[in-house]
Amino acid sequence: MINTINLDGYDLIDTKATSSKGNQQKWLVDNLWYKADHMGYEALCEVVISKLLQKSNVTDFVIYHPIKIDFNDRTLNGCYSKNFKGKNESIVTLEHLSKSWLTNSMAKELLKYDTPEDKIKHTVDFIENVTNLKNVGAYITMMLELDAFFLNEDRHTNNIAFILNDETNEYRFCPYFDFGLSLFADTTYDFPLDLDIYKGIEKIKAKPFSNDFDTQMEAATKLYGDQLKLSFTNADIENAFDEIRDYYSAEIIARAKKLLYNQKHKYGYMFN
Ligand SMILES: Nc1ncnc2c1ncn2[C@@H]1O[C@H](COP(=O)(O)OP(=O)(O)O)[C@@H](O)[C@H]1O
Ligand SMILES: [Mg+2]
Repeated sequence: MINTINLDGYDLIDTKATSSKGNQQKWLVDNLWYKADHMGYEALCEVVISKLLQKSNVTDFVIYHPIKIDFNDRTLNGCYSKNFKGKNESIVTLEHLSKSWLTNSMAKELLKYDTPEDKIKHTVDFIENVTNLKNVGAYITMMLELDAFFLNEDRHTNNIAFILNDETNEYRFCPYFDFGLSLFADTTYDFPLDLDIYKGIEKIKAKPFSNDFDTQMEAATKLYGDQLKLSFTNADIENAFDEIRDYYSAEIIARAKKLLYNQKHKYGYMFN
């Protein structure tokens, strides 16, 4: 089944600085966020990953659904999610916290520390100090474990965010969001569909504490302990594609599945 929405006449939301690989077009309509694919199969990743996270110990993550978006005479694959920002709340990215409290971009700030472990520890302490949140270490560690598992190459400091209540000045954790550039979704530049997946795994780079997924994940779990427990089966992987099957080619679906099976095998210890 395919759902389509026509967004002609709706304003694009400008979030230019929020992705390192170009900018997905976005609209906020009736309290739903719509995002159009830009580099490849971002919406497939969002939908499939949010489906699989329902079989995990992750409790707070954004659920995405697929949709075709008609806009300016083009039809694009995309996804939508419920707005997680309440009334009287603001989304404050780590990049924003860094610029306002350290007067430095987070990338520059991280250069002060040599090891991924130091980078992570200083970032976590900094976030706890300025937001008053507790257990930020566990929150960030879970995120890095998820990124390693799903090969999310886009965890720059605008994709780590916290939610500020403008009235009480209290922060809460943001649900995990934006797994669009996972599972080699960027077929335009770095991961063309004919690329061997093992070559892709060799070349993919993590963010933001190390360019190696396992290095930054292991640095975090050493500091704060293992967080992620997954419980999806191979049948759950197959079913996770039901919703997007009619939106993407068989070739794309086969590649994303192959990567998931590979990661499930590699990170078997994460499963219950
Ligand atoms: N479901 C949502 N609820 C609230 N804000 C959202 C939602 N989806 C996106 N946003 C807003 O848009 C920004 C960019 O969204 P993101 O999913 O990271 O898109 P991109 O893939 O272009 O980086 C987020 O930082 C957030 O401010
Ligand atoms: Mg983003």
